Amino acid sequence: MKKRIYRILAVLTAACLLLAASGAGAAKAENELWWKNTIAYEIYVRSFKDSNGDGTGDLRGIIMELDHLQELGVGAIWLTPCYDSPQADNGYDIADYYKIDPAYGTMEDMDELISEAGKRGIRIVMDLVFNHTSDKNAWFEESRSGRDNPKSDWYIWADPKEDGSAPTNWRSIFGGSAWEYDETRGQYYLHTFLKEQPDLNWENPEVRQALIDVANFWVDKGVGGFRLDAITYIKKPAVFADGKPDAADGLSGIHALTADTPGILDFLREFQAAVSVGTDIFIVGEANGVPSQELPEWVGRDGVMDMIFEISHVLIDLPDEMNWCETREWKLPEWKMLFSDSQEMTRATKGWVPVFLENHDQPRSINHFLPEGADRVAGGKALGTLLLTTRGTPFIMQGEELGLVNVNWSSIDDYQDVSTHNHYKFALAEGYSEEEAMAAVQRFSRDNARTPVQWTDAENAGFTTGTPWLPVNDDYRTFNAASEEADPDSVLNWYITLSRLRKEHAELVDGTYEELFPEHEQVFAYIRENEEAKAVILINLSTEPAAYDAACVEGMELLVSSAGKAEKGQLAPLEAVIYEGPAGN
Ligand code: GLC
Repeated sequence: MKKRIYRILAVLTAACLLLAASGAGAAKAENELWWKNTIAYEIYVRSFKDSNGDGTGDLRGIIMELDHLQELGVGAIWLTPCYDSPQADNGYDIADYYKIDPAYGTMEDMDELISEAGKRGIRIVMDLVFNHTSDKNAWFEESRSGRDNPKSDWYIWADPKEDGSAPTNWRSIFGGSAWEYDETRGQYYLHTFLKEQPDLNWENPEVRQALIDVANFWVDKGVGGFRLDAITYIKKPAVFADGKPDAADGLSGIHALTADTPGILDFLREFQAAVSVGTDIFIVGEANGVPSQELPEWVGRDGVMDMIFEISHVLIDLPDEMNWCETREWKLPEWKMLFSDSQEMTRATKGWVPVFLENHDQPRSINHFLPEGADRVAGGKALGTLLLTTRGTPFIMQGEELGLVNVNWSSIDDYQDVSTHNHYKFALAEGYSEEEAMAAVQRFSRDNARTPVQWTDAENAGFTTGTPWLPVNDDYRTFNAASEEADPDSVLNWYITLSRLRKEHAELVDGTYEELFPEHEQVFAYIRENEEAKAVILINLSTEPAAYDAACVEGMELLVSSAGKAEKGQLAPLEAVIYEGPAGN
């Protein structure tokens, strides 16, 4: 009953927010779903803003900076996990889904955040880590206490092989065996990630119900949606069998063996029916391992969720996610094809995609996707244009709007991320030199995007008055929110400009998407068109001037150029332009 009332209230609130946000004169939106018409922003809570000087970002820190997000036009904040956690994987190991970790604040702070954000037209999106819990979660402690307790089957337990070794040779995503032996039960438990992150057994209906209850607790609090972490791993194969060893450790990567196992959609459909149907919340899944051809089953008319993060474009340079030392070269047409592919695959069933170039697991996009030596301001604007004008809901990673770049620390000891250390060890065990392993760490470490947000040029970039849990990137005196706000040519102001353009030129949000010049090796170009207007977006992602056939913008007006001025048919290095004309031309 309580949930029904909340659902009605949630729908009414969202309708009011939408009316307030659309303003008079704005063109008709594709539909009334608020999350298709907004910009989402990822907050890595530890690194966003520290309100109490302990060096760790917290919920009250987020409340302090909500105006920054409002100015950017953000309507949804994806909060990385801030539940009670031993922090073996910075919160992706949850001990209690109903409690806020004291390092981040209290449930009262969370209620205040939801309400303060709501006042600014912003909804909070919670990160639900449901493939696994922490090994300190009471559910797991009970499960591991013996073979005959009520939760004994809530996790994935298996007997050793005859020689006492692990049930299979699966390698966890973070390296090492995916099985951990437990003395009390005399059995192994499965962990797709760290040994501190035991996998839940979704085959057990009680587990599924417990997770549905968690989600509905948060729906009742008025959140706007969920990100489902590592969701492609929840269904395991019916038979556990060794895979073909794929590295010197004799193990076989678990991803290829368990991701996207048939039957997974039934679990997700059940979850959707019990949690999101009849509400206005959205569900976005982290769906590594779902090929683009399967997108219609996951999102859209018959989809089991509203959007999925399809990550082929961020993995373009990494054929084997475990081996950071083995990268591959790529050219722009291939990268563009991956974007356009997910657009194509979702067209028929009206599916929707989240657009993203960065997140807390990826390097900064300026380093990742632009040629070495690219000007970071021009480059940040070029990538920002892609992010904010492709069809889908843009997800900005905190700091991306400031054009932040990778750190370049020289010793492995400078890095904190547990997976970075495991990848480094794996590289050495595979026979790569320390220099090679370190170069790979600098390129791919998850800490690159996790350094504290740079707010001002004060000590520690205004992130904390204490000692930050992870050092601030030492370029903060030049690149920070305060100085970028004051500089009309900054990456931040370009983001704000584009965010406003999205409100004034609705085709940038609800228009169709059609790629132009797919074979062009420098320029990413596409048309966005709705019933009223047509926009052509051209982005030079190279550090050389580029030419294109100007016929595609004939008779159209220049809306904006990141280089200040534009000549049809020509783009300066890293220049992004948007032209507009009437629909149907
Ligand atoms: C997801 C998260 C990542 C985390 C992992 C295990 O991939 O994005 O940060 O380490 O799941 O929960």
